[in-house]
Amino acid sequence: AMKVVTTIRALRRSLPDEKRAVIGLVPTMGYLHDGHLSLIETARRECDCVVVSVFVNPLQFGPREDFDTYPRDLNRDKAQAEKAGADLLFAPDTEEMYPKPPFTTVRVSNVTEGMCGASRPGHFDGVATVVTKLFHIVQPHRAYFGLKDVQQVAVIQRMVDDLNIPVNIVPCPTVREPDGLAMSSRNVYLSEEERRQATVLFQALKTAKEKLAKREWHTPQQVEDGVRDIIETQPLADIDYVEMRTFPDLERVRDIGNKTYVIAVAVKFGKTRLIDNILFQGG
Ligand code: PAJ
Repeated sequence: AMKVVTTIRALRRSLPDEKRAVIGLVPTMGYLHDGHLSLIETARRECDCVVVSVFVNPLQFGPREDFDTYPRDLNRDKAQAEKAGADLLFAPDTEEMYPKPPFTTVRVSNVTEGMCGASRPGHFDGVATVVTKLFHIVQPHRAYFGLKDVQQVAVIQRMVDDLNIPVNIVPCPTVREPDGLAMSSRNVYLSEEERRQATVLFQALKTAKEKLAKREWHTPQQVEDGVRDIIETQPLADIDYVEMRTFPDLERVRDIGNKTYVIAVAVKFGKTRLIDNILFQGG
């Protein structure tokens, strides 16, 4: 059965003492859905000990963001994580993770500058800092991240490379609802009408990928304008950004060549900000 721990000490005591045991970490903020569970299931297949962390990290929320209202349900998370194959659930409180205000934080440049980094200043520093702490607490061999948060994957991979953190980052595919909407803990905020209109995100991204593959669209400008036009057919959609970048360096694209590209969007529906993206292999 899965063990639940809330302190770093208890977590450390519960990790396998066998030196060769492969430890996998799935960091989450809880309110687990099938996207999170697919990460846990992948970790289960690849690791001897699967640790799931549930911690709503205050450091990565802006002053006007939804830290206080972020959905939380630890009992449900326990049942879901156990069913997906977790061995250990680490659910610290804020005091356990931040007993004193951190004077030391991790700041990743460049890959944090556009896209979500532009609209959420400090967000990725908060993510990089808490993920570094989790890596030191759990010392996993492998850590699982969803490509739904593609910039987060780029930031964590770059941080691990730059600082020689001894962990393998495993990017996992985006899990979607039957109508294509990317699963997110924040989807529960959507009204019925917003939820219906939100399906336009994946539709627009799929169209862009098709137009690129058929060489009907040739430039990042055509892609960004075309995706915007499709999203703007939905009256409740308020676009934050539509960007085509290289992946994983997230550089701006002048000419589309034979690299891997990401088309990423952030769109507000009412007070809910949704993100989605699609990868495209050029050439
Ligand atoms: P959270 O939003 O809870 O997501 C936890 C992990 O689940 C992330 O790696 C995220 O990319 C992945 N995930 C979310 N929705 C997904 C989906 N539809 N398909 C596949 N994977 C999905 O991301 C965070 O928490 C935090 O920033 C965290 C990394 C835990 C640091 O606080």
